[in-house]
Amino acid sequence: MGLRDDIAKVLVPEPELQKRIAELGQAINATYRDEDRLLLICVLKGAFIFLADLVRHLEIRHEVDFMEISSYGAQTESTGVVRILLDLAQSIEGRHVLIVEDIIDSGRTLDYITRNLGTRGPASLRVCTLLSKPDRREIEVPVDLVGFEVPDEFVVGYGLDFAEEYRHLPFIGVLRDEVIQARIGK
Ligand code: PRP
Repeated sequence: MGLRDDIAKVLVPEPELQKRIAELGQAINATYRDEDRLLLICVLKGAFIFLADLVRHLEIRHEVDFMEISSYGAQTESTGVVRILLDLAQSIEGRHVLIVEDIIDSGRTLDYITRNLGTRGPASLRVCTLLSKPDRREIEVPVDLVGFEVPDEFVVGYGLDFAEEYRHLPFIGVLRDEVIQARIGK
């Protein structure tokens, strides 16, 4: 049995993902057409594949930087207690900034990031997420670009993990319940 067998169903197949990412890229091109160099901030680890595909659709001048945020808590849920594991390599003062996330669930991570970055004086601060789980939202955070809204199921693939695995899958899939239970029950 391979890791692919742990997937109960494919929620967003690869062609659909890639088509939507191209559309998001075009939306970003349009929004920042007249601005100075855009800074895309990739929130590690989950957003690394999304960022890599997204920037290949950009025609505007831009840079990328990385932040890593950790949420404490159970394996499948975030608790709202977050901390910065890796901070940006540069100042964002006066810069147009676009946060690139893989998924917004409770909204707590993004709320923390936007408040934190907001204090650093960016010229503008927007958010682009590949996935959003609106049913799980605990804190309303403004999101400018959303790839797909997904139901409240345990999704993996395309950067999203379960216990650090499954990030490599080229689609968004739903993990089988038995796989989650087997790991959590241990
Ligand atoms: C995930 C995801 C978001 C956050 C969303 O990161 O990448 O940053 O959770 O959840 P929230 O809206 O409830 O805060 P995770 O902590 O799993 O780390 P990872 O990206 O390194 O896998």
